[in-house]
Amino acid sequence: MYKIPANTLFLGKNLVFVPECHSTNTIALQFTQKPSATEGTVVITDHQTAGRGQRGNFWEAEPGMNLTFSIIFKPFFLPAREQHFLTIMTSLAVRDYLLSRIAEPVSIKWPNDILIDNKKVCGILIENQVQGPQIMSTVAGIGLNVNQTEFGIDKTTSLKLLTQTVTPLNEALETLLSCIEGRYLQLRQQKYDGLMKEYLDCLYWRNEKHIFSSGNMNFEGTIESIGEDGGLLIRTDEGIRSFQVKELVFFS
Ligand code: BTN
Repeated sequence: MYKIPANTLFLGKNLVFVPECHSTNTIALQFTQKPSATEGTVVITDHQTAGRGQRGNFWEAEPGMNLTFSIIFKPFFLPAREQHFLTIMTSLAVRDYLLSRIAEPVSIKWPNDILIDNKKVCGILIENQVQGPQIMSTVAGIGLNVNQTEFGIDKTTSLKLLTQTVTPLNEALETLLSCIEGRYLQLRQQKYDGLMKEYLDCLYWRNEKHIFSSGNMNFEGTIESIGEDGGLLIRTDEGIRSFQVKELVFFS
């Protein structure tokens, strides 16, 4: 059903289609143990029965209506302490794709939810296998809402809801993979500053005062930046505080 993309150098050239599976990230993680799992391998399905999200959440997607796939990277060039740049480059790539399709602003809710008009259109789950200072492999799982129009969860949207047109999944995959490859090559050239600047420029709630919650305590703060370890830096009454993903809830 999915074609090998013509417009990429290496991404998706090894394209593994599984009609149904629990989670493409789980399959891709198993593949990383095999020598045949070359960099750029894509595992894609039409029906994920136990899609995994961030913070142990599930990812639900109507069968055959959306893109649910995972990419294997071997980012040996990237020190483990910079692994958050894999999140940054993937989020920016999905944003690039969406901007090629729609006129509305696309923002990134830290670390990697892609939002349009305050609604989530894409979720990303990055899983790195790290040994000491080196990243051995990365699985980047992407769930992009394409043609689904009804969602069990509020604040969710899709390309179909935004554009009123049906997008052939194969077409969306080909263009999206090309965007991801472009951003990955930018990362491989170690263009960290440029990637970070673009990421900060479209970071949801940046430079605005909002309520957050951490360890059951609500507090007011303003997102300022990303720390050297990838943590979110929020200015509060007590000064700048740094948070990791599991420590923070965006409140209102
Ligand atoms: C999130 O927003 O919580 C992340 C969702 C990531 C979902 C994608 S769908 C393809 C890949 N396989 C999975 O099990 N999860 C990711």
